Amino acid sequence: MRVDIVSIFPDYLAPLDLSLIGRARSAGLLKLAVHDLRRWTHDVHRTVDDTPYGGGPGMVMRPEPWGEALDELAPPGAPPPRLLVPSPAGPRFTQAMAHELAAEPHLLFACGRYEGIDQRVIEHAATRMPVTEISLGDYVLFGGEVAVLVVLEAVTRLLPGVLGNAGSLDEESHANGLLEAPVYTKPPSWRGLDVPDILRSGDHGRIARWRRSTGLLRTAERRPDLLATLPPAALDDRDRAA
Ligand code: ADE
Repeated sequence: MRVDIVSIFPDYLAPLDLSLIGRARSAGLLKLAVHDLRRWTHDVHRTVDDTPYGGGPGMVMRPEPWGEALDELAPPGAPPPRLLVPSPAGPRFTQAMAHELAAEPHLLFACGRYEGIDQRVIEHAATRMPVTEISLGDYVLFGGEVAVLVVLEAVTRLLPGVLGNAGSLDEESHANGLLEAPVYTKPPSWRGLDVPDILRSGDHGRIARWRRSTGLLRTAERRPDLLATLPPAALDDRDRAA
């Protein structure tokens, strides 16, 4: 997968050199480049913002540097990338979206700052490539960089070859629309708290059943909204009994 990120704070994205994302890059599974938006400015101050039309507080990102950046990174005529614009006004990012994005060959992230990017940039880009605004949640960040880190971490770990044990993707929270059951490791007893006997029983059928029903109960208690959106076929009779 190829990923381009445009930001006025490229250093914010330094963590993308670390850990499993860094390893995926070294292994050639992910070709990632971070670009400074100011590269596409032409004045001595390398201006990227201006006051909002209509008045109001804060500054808005001017369209010209963005237009040139997108022209260079998504040249007309070449297969278009999927443009992702982090914004609190977008639909909420989910695991389902992470799967959808993991199937794309090329993602291009445009990180807005201040009050946002001039809307014409998004409107114009949408004539040439699919554009998706993405929100991390119902709160406001200073800019899109942290959202890019979150989205890329969720997407990269779904790419083939990135996780050592791909089986962990099947059981984790949100993999099947449910929260995962709690996990334990050694020692079997710690500060008076014991690991549930069933997990030490060696009976893999019963353990799988316990994990499923415990995940279901947890979801019902903590995130009833997730249960409500599950298709009926996602639950069997034993789930309903749990
Ligand atoms: N930029 C500012 N706030 C944001 C949010 N909640 N999600 C994504 N990008 C943002």
